[in-house]
Amino acid sequence: MIIAIDGPAASGKGTLGKKLAAHLNFRHLDTGLLYRAVAKAVLDAGGKPEDQQAAAAAARNFNPAWIDDPALRTDKIGSAASVVSAVPDVREALIDFQRKFAASPPGAVLDGRDIGTVIAPDAEVKIFVTAAPEERARRRCRELEGRGEKPEFEAVLADIKKRDERDANRAVAPFKAADDAHMLDTTELNADAAFAAAVALVEQVRRR
Ligand code: C5P
Repeated sequence: MIIAIDGPAASGKGTLGKKLAAHLNFRHLDTGLLYRAVAKAVLDAGGKPEDQQAAAAAARNFNPAWIDDPALRTDKIGSAASVVSAVPDVREALIDFQRKFAASPPGAVLDGRDIGTVIAPDAEVKIFVTAAPEERARRRCRELEGRGEKPEFEAVLADIKKRDERDANRAVAPFKAADDAHMLDTTELNADAAFAAAVALVEQVRRR
């Protein structure tokens, strides 16, 4: 079974994906880390994320070990990731790895922006997680504060909106819900409530 979870930054899709995979004993892949790793490889080599050739070359050299790097989680890398992820050759180079991961037994949960639409259009369960941008900015601020940073709410909100817009308007694999995705709005839900709703969905599909 493949479970596709798509959603914007700080919607709660990562936490949900991890909990769901642990609950089902499935493997979990946070696909944002692939684009973050490519962006970091470009930056580490002294390049710019806007350099499409450098980004494509880094994606072709992608090494799965890169995604374990804790330095990928910063907002700076997240923004650079949303630039390199708009390059068609970057997306193309990362498809195989994601599809193989999705197909490997006993089952997989993948979260990202195009899992239900491009990577695993046949996924048995598709969940599209949303939340109001202001709530997502509050979550991101709490997360950054937890890491000892002092974020400014307005700057975090602006960054989230910019990233949403860039992801939704790119030519290849634009960020949108699959027609057959179940919508899960987490604006008013905590992580446990979102998890319970997702488990109910999966059980419904399994019973069929
Ligand atoms: O989810 P996360 O914030 O880690 O993703 C970073 C960036 O990677 C996103 O803003 C998006 O541009 C890109 N991404 C993507 N497709 C995915 C996952 C992430 O384009 N499946």
